[in-house]
Amino acid sequence: MTVNNDLHAVLAQPAGLTDDDVRIIQQDFPALHQEIHGRRLVYLDSGATSQKPRWVLEAEREFYETCNAAVHRGAHELAVRATDAFEDARTTVAAFVRAAPEELVWTANATAGINLIAQALGNASIWAERGRGGQEIRQLALKPGDEIVVTELEHHANLIPWQELAFRTGAVLRFIPVDAAGSLRLEEAERLIGPQTKVVAFAHTSNVLGSVAPVHELVQLARRVGALVVLDACQSAPHMPLGLPSLDVDFAVFSGHKMLGPTGIGVLYGRRGLLDALPPVHTGGSMITTVTMERAEYLAAPQRFEAGTQPVGQAVGLAAAVQYLDGIGMDRIHASVTVLGQRLAEGITAIRGVKLLGPPAGEPRIGLAAFDVEGVHAHDVGQYLDSLGVAVRVGHHCAQPLHRRLGLSASTRASAYLYNTTDDIDEFLAALSGVRPYFGVGK
Ligand SMILES: Cc1ncc(COP(=O)(O)O)c(C=O)c1O
Repeated sequence: MTVNNDLHAVLAQPAGLTDDDVRIIQQDFPALHQEIHGRRLVYLDSGATSQKPRWVLEAEREFYETCNAAVHRGAHELAVRATDAFEDARTTVAAFVRAAPEELVWTANATAGINLIAQALGNASIWAERGRGGQEIRQLALKPGDEIVVTELEHHANLIPWQELAFRTGAVLRFIPVDAAGSLRLEEAERLIGPQTKVVAFAHTSNVLGSVAPVHELVQLARRVGALVVLDACQSAPHMPLGLPSLDVDFAVFSGHKMLGPTGIGVLYGRRGLLDALPPVHTGGSMITTVTMERAEYLAAPQRFEAGTQPVGQAVGLAAAVQYLDGIGMDRIHASVTVLGQRLAEGITAIRGVKLLGPPAGEPRIGLAAFDVEGVHAHDVGQYLDSLGVAVRVGHHCAQPLHRRLGLSASTRASAYLYNTTDDIDEFLAALSGVRPYFGVGK
């Protein structure tokens, strides 16, 4: 596998990423070297999905060329290689978030991870009701009147699975509201998280506002009442060093495709012991110890949650992605995207008729910024920017309740990553300044 030669010089440097460093990194990303509508592509949609370096593309290709076989069951050499590659990938990705390999379940993406936990908890309720499983199952089971607490800023992926769990179990869904600026109202969290609370689920960083949740405070509130904590780390895992055990959450999820990895692979982290206590969700091959015609005994985690043929090539690709990120250094990536996020926030705020969502410039935010252009629909904003080669995301970003709370139906979002320079941000800002004049609603 290869990275470009100049990258070695970037890797040897101590902190942050200069624009020159980023230009060297960009050489590893083929998709960035295209013209879009005759213009240089400025890709600012990494919050939706990231581009992939050759290192990752080659890792997947090498896997298929040299190791491809079904894992965990073959007696031949290729099956051994494939199993090793699959389990080594688990160890690599687990180490990336400071977890043990058996705490990491492969999923299709973050959405699948949250659904898995919510459905497993629903199954725990059914098992408890029907007298299956022991004391652990009864502790995990939700019953009518129990409460699930989420926040008003969640991505639908961290909302709808909880709505469905509430429906299945008779539990009640409560939410921590945000203020007009989109910050979580912690005093409300304190009031809401009480003896009935069984689950507290929230996003580490908002995919719309770019704000960072007060993880420590929320975990403390949940611990006080013995509730499980589920962290949606979909927008934080790509951007900052993440030690999941030290955050003291019970479960966390993230998606490979947002962090240089392939699509079709994601991660569910579950605290050791807890995963083994949960009933499975998907059942079938590769997750059992013994099966009779009447019933089955299940393997311990992670295998009990990995029924059927797994996304092996994708897991290998994700391991290569986190190696690439670690090679550059998550501290440096965090520092770099934070600078880009602030540049976005400041620049957007300075444009007349454009309203920045979320924390004001100068306040903590990751490398993304969503905004509303007064008098121009987000889809028109996106199309205009696209005509100038700038790729952004438009719509409700799978966060309809948050947009409703902010009095909007849609917004536009620019999101940066390790391969964006400050020039990319400035080019985007220059293009954004032209939107209202172009549509004849301002100067
Ligand atoms: C905060 C957050 N959670 C969950 C998701 C869902 O990710 P996926 O579609 O990869 O499952 C996203 C995707 O944008 C996200 O930003």
